[in-house]
Amino acid sequence: MERLVEVEQISFEEDKSEVNLRPSSWDDYIGQEKIKKNLKVFIEASKKREEALDHILFYGPPGLGKTTLSYLISNEMNSNIKITAGPMIEKSGDLAAILTNLEEGDILFIDEIHRLSPAVEEILYPAMEDYRLDIIIGSGPAAQTVKIDLPRFTLIGATTRAGMLSNPLRERFGMHFRMQFYDNEELAKIIQKASVKLNKICADDAALEISRRSRGTPRVALRLLRRVRDFAEVENEETIIKQRCNYALDELGVNDSGFDEMDINLLELLVSNKGKPMGLSTIAAALSEDEGTIEDAIEPYLLANGFIERTARGRVASVKTYEMFRLSYPETEKVQKESLF
Ligand SMILES: Nc1ncnc2c1ncn2[C@@H]1O[C@H](COP(=O)(O)OP(=O)(O)OP(=O)(O)O)[C@@H](O)[C@H]1O
Ligand SMILES: [Mg+2]
Repeated sequence: MERLVEVEQISFEEDKSEVNLRPSSWDDYIGQEKIKKNLKVFIEASKKREEALDHILFYGPPGLGKTTLSYLISNEMNSNIKITAGPMIEKSGDLAAILTNLEEGDILFIDEIHRLSPAVEEILYPAMEDYRLDIIIGSGPAAQTVKIDLPRFTLIGATTRAGMLSNPLRERFGMHFRMQFYDNEELAKIIQKASVKLNKICADDAALEISRRSRGTPRVALRLLRRVRDFAEVENEETIIKQRCNYALDELGVNDSGFDEMDINLLELLVSNKGKPMGLSTIAAALSEDEGTIEDAIEPYLLANGFIERTARGRVASVKTYEMFRLSYPETEKVQKESLF
């Protein structure tokens, strides 16, 4: 099933649509203020020293702007950016070919970097640390290591699963940035800017309404905006109004909190367990969904906003969730919690 609020792993999907809504300047990139502030300092410093920027790791849930930031950095550094992804680099030779084709100051962007194989990672270590490629020729006692110097490049890695990166790889990044969910005001700004690009005016309360239902995620906000715009177009409305948003979003099955069927299924499942924690594998089996999708794409927002809690023994629904379903919080849970103190 295609999720309307899905935040898929494959980037660049937005680029295929009629208007590209990806911000191309710092000013258009809303929110993530701390990350932006730090990046600006590091970029300026490396420009002053005329050195390549240190390697950067972005991590966090899908659709929060990791790829977009990487493009902005390459713009700011005036450098070329080469794009690839973990699953695309099958053999160490593939990576060696990519690395030897880089030029001084280039940025290499590896999306889903947690999916590199160990053999490929091995190639990356000396490349990141010493700008050097170690290639082994032959085998057995006659094997020789040939060292090739690489140009000074910047690796930008992006991942939804920092926990799956190996320690040596993680440690070789000079900067680690964790992407945050956006608040409604930030999302509303993103929606307003995007509406202009789509030749529409979006009323303030309409933009806020879409924001409220976007799970803190710009990609979701932009997708909902496009769908709402379709409804407005059919009605010949120049301006996107709140009433149309409500109608369109209800039609699309996005509930008041921005939850879709999958979120609701997960929350209902936890609630049905009456306060007993449920393990990830049980949840995955019950929802016929893989564990990775639940951990990367569904859970983070629910956790960040206190709809579910993660305990050592599994996940439980919070008071907030019971309230949303207008159910009373199960006694067993209260008792279990109190007995902890
Ligand atoms: N801070 C922002 N300001 C404005 N638009 C944004 C911002 N962050 C993301 N977007 C928009 O949201 C969309 C998704 O962003 P992006 O592709 O960079 O996410 P991502 O973190 O790389 O996701 P994934 O993990 O799926 O690769 C982009 O089309 C971009 O236009
Ligand atoms: Mg991306």
